Amino acid sequence: MASDDRNGEQAAGRVFEPSPEFSAAAHIGSMEQYRGLHQRSLEDPEGFWREVSDEFEWSRPWTVLNEWNEPFTKWFVDGELNITVNCLDRHIDAGYGDRIAYHWEGEPGDTRPITYAELLAEVCAFANGLRELGLEKGDRVILYMPMIPELPVAMLACARLGIVHSVIFGGFSADAIRDRVNDAGARAVICTDGSWRRGKVIPLKENVDNALADNACPTVEEVIVFQRCEDEINFEDGRDIWWHDLVAGKPETCDPVMVPAEHPLYVLYTSGTTGKPKGVVHATGGYMVYTALTSKWIFDLKDDDVYWCTADIGWVTGHSYIVYGILANGVTSVMYEGAPDFPDFGRLWEIVDRYDVTVFYTAPTAVRAFIKWGDEWPAKHDLSSLRLLGSVGEPINPEVWLWYHRVIGGERCPIVDTWWQTETGGIMITPFPGAIATKPGSATLPFPGIEPDVVDEQGNSVGANERGLLIVRRPWPGMIRGIYQEGWGQPGHPGEFGERDRFVSTYFEKIAGVYLAGDAVTRDEDGYYWIIGRIDDVLNVSGHRLGTAELESSLVEHPAVAEAAVIGFPDDLTGEAVAAFVTLRGGFAAGDDLQLELRNHIGNQIGRFARPKMLRFTSALPKTRSGKIMRRLLKEIATSGEVTGDTTTLEDIGAIAALRGDDEE
Ligand code: PRX
Repeated sequence: MASDDRNGEQAAGRVFEPSPEFSAAAHIGSMEQYRGLHQRSLEDPEGFWREVSDEFEWSRPWTVLNEWNEPFTKWFVDGELNITVNCLDRHIDAGYGDRIAYHWEGEPGDTRPITYAELLAEVCAFANGLRELGLEKGDRVILYMPMIPELPVAMLACARLGIVHSVIFGGFSADAIRDRVNDAGARAVICTDGSWRRGKVIPLKENVDNALADNACPTVEEVIVFQRCEDEINFEDGRDIWWHDLVAGKPETCDPVMVPAEHPLYVLYTSGTTGKPKGVVHATGGYMVYTALTSKWIFDLKDDDVYWCTADIGWVTGHSYIVYGILANGVTSVMYEGAPDFPDFGRLWEIVDRYDVTVFYTAPTAVRAFIKWGDEWPAKHDLSSLRLLGSVGEPINPEVWLWYHRVIGGERCPIVDTWWQTETGGIMITPFPGAIATKPGSATLPFPGIEPDVVDEQGNSVGANERGLLIVRRPWPGMIRGIYQEGWGQPGHPGEFGERDRFVSTYFEKIAGVYLAGDAVTRDEDGYYWIIGRIDDVLNVSGHRLGTAELESSLVEHPAVAEAAVIGFPDDLTGEAVAAFVTLRGGFAAGDDLQLELRNHIGNQIGRFARPKMLRFTSALPKTRSGKIMRRLLKEIATSGEVTGDTTTLEDIGAIAALRGDDEE
């Protein structure tokens, strides 16, 4: 990476105070104000959340703020609402119907502005189509679509009717779709014929066809297909239906279905430590309030902002900070379908320039790519509209932070480095851009309502600058409600609380009574949090979360593979990269062809983004006496680049371990 050592040195110990101009205009403009809010949120949660939630429309106002039956929480417990009323109708009723909700930018260069009024009309027409198909409150629907306005339209149409959506990132393969459709027991799949990626069409519908082939997903009755690419596709009569046919002639109004605040809004699958992805359930009321408030205060959103988050809606960042939290604030966003380097490395800056983007939220992995591509690309465009920058998904290296600040932010834009997770629903630890001084590499301080701590394995708080586990001591509105399982929310059903044991053992067992985030962290003498990375077998590749167990079970499903061990190792661009070590079954020989085949196998089973950067064949995996794979040694081998020969031939990594006399017990 073109990391700038001079900047790396400069970063150490530097503190960036918010500028007086920024603070003067900000929602939260001073450290006293931030401290007061945080303190009040913990001492008087009723009063704090009452004020915040009163901004929204509830068909039945809540009287009970919160219940906590560890590990299950409920918020705005007896309230009722519809989230789309708050994201759409409310703004139109207030006279903002003509405001642009999304400036949509298609990859091939097509563009489309869509106002709040137009968005509501489309949501209603599509919701009426879903209703005609017999879909109703509580049903699950899978969405597998690229970054086009119809994706938020479909999400919001589901939410209009109380249907629970589950969006699958368009990079996932047929096998991954099948697993998620079946886990969710989805009644319908909404997809496009294809999606554009660097000038080529990715066959999304074909992936759906493959997922559903041979009646592999018996719960699916309909596949709704939006036409994006106009390529020939297979169309199955009786099952498949065109989006345009479904909405044709449908009224553009649709009464919202009011749901209890705890009604599940969506299920989003994410990787954990076991092979099977977890269906994270978020509930309507708490998620709405939490994502809306975090959006407003952290991105300091105002009526005239043009906000742009470059994430894909297939991940939680897009759910919370392209769709729900942002629309709830009624601001204008940019939504971009394509890749950041197509047709050239200046693509994003050209878009910032053209739409006068004011707030820009992206991932460190993207910033590292911008650095690699060179300062000349942003320099070609006028970025002076930018006033605030954000970072999410992985730790941002201080020198990368400084580059972002200097080259993209023109040294005038505060940077909010936001720490959170799929499970947290919204941002948890973050600067307030007008109040909290930033230190490059630190996510700084907790959001109001959030009480984090750094503890040792026994749950005792550790001292300043000591490494420990990141925990959260009390529930918050956007918190995960459980791991989805059939029967969710049905009293007396075995699945009422989802996969209860897995939920408990993942988040609440290791340290009793508190939420364990799964990240290692330190906290400095100013109380600033510095996230180090995952403590479990979850990898973070370009901000995409991958479970090593998931990758290993995919590899051993290949007939050539006897055993597999997957680890992450540092990568200048993607943060972490995947290394796979495999032993082969008799009759299979190591070589280039098999290496390619195994990488493609993971591509087909999970998705291209999960393919290992390094794949090595070994005669045996190094193991401890009790048979545990010595992952630390594998990590060292991958990191050191210590290669015993051509990596496509058989190595004897077991022997390396024996030679070193290592034993990790
Ligand atoms: O390890 C942390 C890292 O991403 C994990 C959560 O991944 P996911 O659920 O996919 O959500 C990503 C987007 C919210 C965390 O456990 N992470 C996220 N944000 C940061 C981060 N690590 C360091 N700094 C961050 N700002």
